[in-house]
Amino acid sequence: MMFDKSAQPGREDPATPGALHVAVIMDGNGRWAQNRGWPRLVGHRKGAERVRKLVEACPDLGIRYLTLYAFSTENWKRSTEEVLGLMTLFARYIRREADRMKREGVRLRFIGDRTRLDDDLQALIRWIEAETAENDRVHLSVALNYGGRDEIVRATRAMVQDVAAGTLSAEQISDATISRYLDTRDLPDPDLVVRTSGETRVSNFLLWQAAYAEYVFTPTLWPDFTPATMGTILKDFAVRERRFGGVKT
Ligand code: IPE
Ligand code: IPE
Ligand code: MG
Repeated sequence: MMFDKSAQPGREDPATPGALHVAVIMDGNGRWAQNRGWPRLVGHRKGAERVRKLVEACPDLGIRYLTLYAFSTENWKRSTEEVLGLMTLFARYIRREADRMKREGVRLRFIGDRTRLDDDLQALIRWIEAETAENDRVHLSVALNYGGRDEIVRATRAMVQDVAAGTLSAEQISDATISRYLDTRDLPDPDLVVRTSGETRVSNFLLWQAAYAEYVFTPTLWPDFTPATMGTILKDFAVRERRFGGVKT
């Protein structure tokens, strides 16, 4: 299913205007496992399988950009066991999926503050980003140690440094300038943000970028989320009227 995105005022991908960008807050892994009496990490593992299936289905769903919230700046509060388990899972996903991503034309990027991740994971991230840099069929971005406020803080610091260095002036700073200093500088704004598991909050995800995104909240827990679930959500999204501050024409 494909969508007409005419009249989209958000930042667009100039190379492919109209390309659909869907962002997902993948929530509910822990509850999915706990409902079955299993450790939370089993839910995260099942969740990773769901990611693979969804990425594979993106071309058929008409999704060119898929951005997934995998670990927030607040998720460090969880037990050491869960945090380490998740980090291991991210590394394993990169290693195991590398060939498939290359075959399927998936470009993988990471957003978030990677400097707090361990050195091996940082090296793996640099490697997979370089390995898939030429791919253009599906742009997969994974938000790891990502927080919208943290991203804005880091962008502000970088802008202030450039002003001090004389390469940027206060007058030059516009909406577009700020977008260029964010981790998402190479991505169009999301059209749609989906959150699974029935929670109806944003939890610090893409605060700046989602200014005009549509939101869909589904009760489905992430480990139960299939490409068909996404297909149903996209059908509903396609008939929504996006006004971007204007009036109905
Ligand atoms: C989302 O599932 C995955 C991460 C935040 C890493 P949760 O782990 O938050 O699952 P629930 O919300 O506890 O069910
Ligand atoms: C949001 O889920 C972060 C991710 C999905 C990675 P959380 O489960 O961490 O969010 P809260 O705590 O319910 O707000
Ligand atoms: Mg949660």
